[in-house]
Amino acid sequence: MNDREHASEAPTRGDRVGELGYAAMDRVHSEFEELLRRAAGAKRQNWVEILGAIDSHLREHFEAEDRWMQETDFPPRDCHMDEHAAVLRSCGEVLALARLGNLEPAPRFIIELRRWFPPHAHHLDSALAAWLCKRQYGGKPVVIHRFKAENRPC
Ligand SMILES: [Fe+2]
Ligand SMILES: [Fe+2]
Repeated sequence: MNDREHASEAPTRGDRVGELGYAAMDRVHSEFEELLRRAAGAKRQNWVEILGAIDSHLREHFEAEDRWMQETDFPPRDCHMDEHAAVLRSCGEVLALARLGNLEPAPRFIIELRRWFPPHAHHLDSALAAWLCKRQYGGKPVVIHRFKAENRPC
């Protein structure tokens, strides 16, 4: 096995979730994307540390969202919370294997996590962000995205 185990290249601008309009959630998402970037360039000797950091982050990330859903009686919370629980189970299993010296599943897991996150954020987290903003401010968030010229269609 090589010294350097790449999960993949770092996320491109287009892979990033961007802001959903609820500041506390946006901060957590930004931290998560930073961890995924670190994992993308990780060396073999850093995998256990990075997986541990991702596992700790996801526990706090999902605990906060689950709590917001429960505290506000967010109607479609069950499938969102089930998805969080499934990801946490997988993360815990991959971390446990890594701690036993089996790093084989780690790069694939990070690739799958990077694939999973944007649709989760765009479908489930954005609905929660809109719900929380509406309760707190009386309206849905308006988020303006600026794109650089290279991201515009021809
Ligand atoms: Fe989230
Ligand atoms: Fe979520």
